[in-house]
Amino acid sequence: MSALAVNIPAPPSPAVDPRTYRSVLGRFVTGVTVMTVGGAGLGRAGVTANSFNTVSLDPPLILWSLALKAPSLSLFRAHEHFGVSILAAHQRETALAFARPSPDKFAGVAIKHGETGVPLVSGAMAHLECRVAHRYPGGDHEIIVGEVLRLTGGDHQPLVFHGGRFCNVLEDDPAA
Ligand SMILES: Cc1cc2nc3c(=O)[nH]c(=O)nc-3n(C[C@H](O)[C@H](O)[C@H](O)COP(=O)(O)O)c2cc1C
Repeated sequence: MSALAVNIPAPPSPAVDPRTYRSVLGRFVTGVTVMTVGGAGLGRAGVTANSFNTVSLDPPLILWSLALKAPSLSLFRAHEHFGVSILAAHQRETALAFARPSPDKFAGVAIKHGETGVPLVSGAMAHLECRVAHRYPGGDHEIIVGEVLRLTGGDHQPLVFHGGRFCNVLEDDPAA
């Protein structure tokens, strides 16, 4: 057996209670995105995700993670490109629509298509078109790193997620 083939036993899971983990990390404020794939005759999928973050400016990379148990995982694995719609404050219903399994989440949602053919949610605060650059295992999620090919942004206020709820950005307090 070569040295590279030696099996190193996985370290024991840290003693973190899942409910405490969710409640503490749920305090971290995020925006809300809808990740989408579609076109190329493969079928389309859309998932509400707040695991989105920037990684690198040069090259321009972003990441997000998708649950291994998500029904849409196979479609996200099948497509080379994906779209990111960063939702605006008025798009709570859209965030909810893409956060539960459904045979056609896109019904009743205004969609436009990017140059790569990915569906994008109309009226969002910003749109990105990405090519999958890397996929990494991440526990019970798959980490997807995308190279940003194109992006546009508007003037809308963002939709915010905090403590398990959607909120809006508070204006700066001039007294602070
Ligand atoms: C605000 C919010 C953020 C979410 N973020 C993620 C995420 O980053 N990754 C993920 O896998 N699921 C996330 N979810 C849950 C998915 O949107 C949900 O499981 C969805 O049904 C997955 O799509 P699918 O059922 O079509 O596979 C989030 C849900 C909400 C409400």
